[in-house]
Amino acid sequence: MIRVALIPGDGIGPEVIREGRRLIDAAVGAGLVDVRTEEFPHGADHYLATGETLSDEVFTRLRDEFDAILLGAVGDPRIPDNRHARDILLGLRFRLDLFINFRPARLRLPELSPLKDARAGFPDIDVFRENTEGFYSGSGGVLRLGSPMEVATSESFATRYGVERIVRASFEHASTRARPRVTLVDKANAVPHVYGLWRRVFTEIAAEYPDVESEMGYVDAVAMQLVRDPERFSVIVTENFIGDILSDLLAELSGGVGLAPSANLNPGRHALYEPVHGSAPDIAGQGLANPVATLLCVAMLLRNAGEVTAADLVDRAVDASLAEGVRTPDAGGEATTEEVGRWIADHVWAG
Ligand code: NAD
Ligand code: IPM
Ligand code: MN
Repeated sequence: MIRVALIPGDGIGPEVIREGRRLIDAAVGAGLVDVRTEEFPHGADHYLATGETLSDEVFTRLRDEFDAILLGAVGDPRIPDNRHARDILLGLRFRLDLFINFRPARLRLPELSPLKDARAGFPDIDVFRENTEGFYSGSGGVLRLGSPMEVATSESFATRYGVERIVRASFEHASTRARPRVTLVDKANAVPHVYGLWRRVFTEIAAEYPDVESEMGYVDAVAMQLVRDPERFSVIVTENFIGDILSDLLAELSGGVGLAPSANLNPGRHALYEPVHGSAPDIAGQGLANPVATLLCVAMLLRNAGEVTAADLVDRAVDASLAEGVRTPDAGGEATTEEVGRWIADHVWAG
């Protein structure tokens, strides 16, 4: 049995997780997989009502009693410092040591890309985003708050241990791909210390994988090339902050954030799946949210839990829904979140 904790969270989070749950329930109902779900209320409403972001007790349960977590999104305009979201999402990433943020970009239907050449093809690009270091550690502070002499610092850091394990994971993954190639993306020309360490470690590990092509690029030029010549990329490995930005860019180039899933992984130990997109307060509560990113998270969750057949069926049902035009407005359709979710849940087991 696969034990899954659901954290719907804020904004469109509950709307897309409802469809994720519908899909899981349909799979269980069809006798294809054995999954037990439990829902957790953590998010903005819960924080405002109780003061709890994510207690140690709940964290311990999530760590010890579940095989995977499926999170919608966290972020709410009523909490401008984003405290609850940092405790819940970044807290889980750090405390479960989910060092790989795996973000695959797949153009599932050529017309969904804003690139004019995408009909001729857009490559499958997998981002390996380091998920426990960089600017995200919270290191730094503010002095003389509110005065004209105010000083603020936010420090980024990298450890050899942290860089080695994500770079190695990216090469292992690339060696299984049709195009075995890894690109390190950094800004070593302007920020020498942290990215110098990345480059040294990357060069050492690349030498261990003679069958995997490797190259290093600066993020500004890589952003340009991703738009102009995406074919040169296969696997991208990068630090936390750059990975955050490039994964939204890649999501959009390959069909929109509404279709982009991600997996936060410590392989063999813990996993948290979440769409790349956020809580989208601008469209919350209107049935406009695309649930596909979340449904593809369910597919990744099932695949990583060994349920490959069920995962393939979900992937195929998503492709069929797009091909049939059962799409939310962001993907050029007129269907609601629930209509897309129901269509996919109904068709998924048809094979
Ligand atoms: P966002 O991803 O929520 O929204 C960006 C744009 O994409 C918006 O126009 C939104 O309507 C659209 N969009 C996003 N998801 C969509 C979907 N499934 N279907 C259709 N359209 C969709 O980014 P933002 O506006 O910068 O952030 C909103 C809040 O979400 C902030 O509080 C932010 O911190 C948070 N956030 C959370 C996560 C997470 O929990 N994993 C990720 C990113 C942002
Ligand atoms: C993401 C989000 C988060 C991040 C935010 C909400 C802290 O943008 O998962 O991509 O920056 O990692
Ligand atoms: Mn992001």
